[in-house]
Amino acid sequence: MAQLNLNDIERIMLSRGDEQYSGEPVSHMMHAMQTAALALQAGSSNSLILASLLHDIGHFLIDLSGTPSERGINDQHEYRAAHALKSCLPKSVTEPIRLHVKAKRCLVCDPQYFAQLSEDSKRSLQLQGGTMNSAERAVFEQEEFHQAALELRRFDDLAKDPSFETQSWESYWALAEKLRIA
Ligand SMILES: [Fe+2]
Repeated sequence: MAQLNLNDIERIMLSRGDEQYSGEPVSHMMHAMQTAALALQAGSSNSLILASLLHDIGHFLIDLSGTPSERGINDQHEYRAAHALKSCLPKSVTEPIRLHVKAKRCLVCDPQYFAQLSEDSKRSLQLQGGTMNSAERAVFEQEEFHQAALELRRFDDLAKDPSFETQSWESYWALAEKLRIA
């Protein structure tokens, strides 16, 4: 699978952003920018704000239409994204993205967390491996960026609100130029 440069990333986000976020009342772009806005509001690092903005770009890196989880397909978007971004952005951006699905599998150990997930998130959870067992959790907690991934996941879950207004794309995307490694 191809590596992306910053121009490719921005082009994909701007050209595909109007598509509806599967099973949710917001577009992909609204979801991306709301996730970044929540990270900014929480005082997160620039890396985590940018990771939040780009965390779901992997959904655009495979040719699947509609809501894949409804058809029993795990699109593995977290791995696709982390791989595609790693030649131009640092690990502090790509690792929270790679781990954000594992973060969900860790957080669902708390029944209250599970209860507030959207229907699509609950359905995709099963395809993604379900709730982590204690051995999987111990491995996850050894990951350098697991805390950042857990934070990203909390922003992600709240970023599905059609009435939530954010700053412009440019204001978040400016962080990519600051953080780029190539
Ligand atoms: Fe997301």
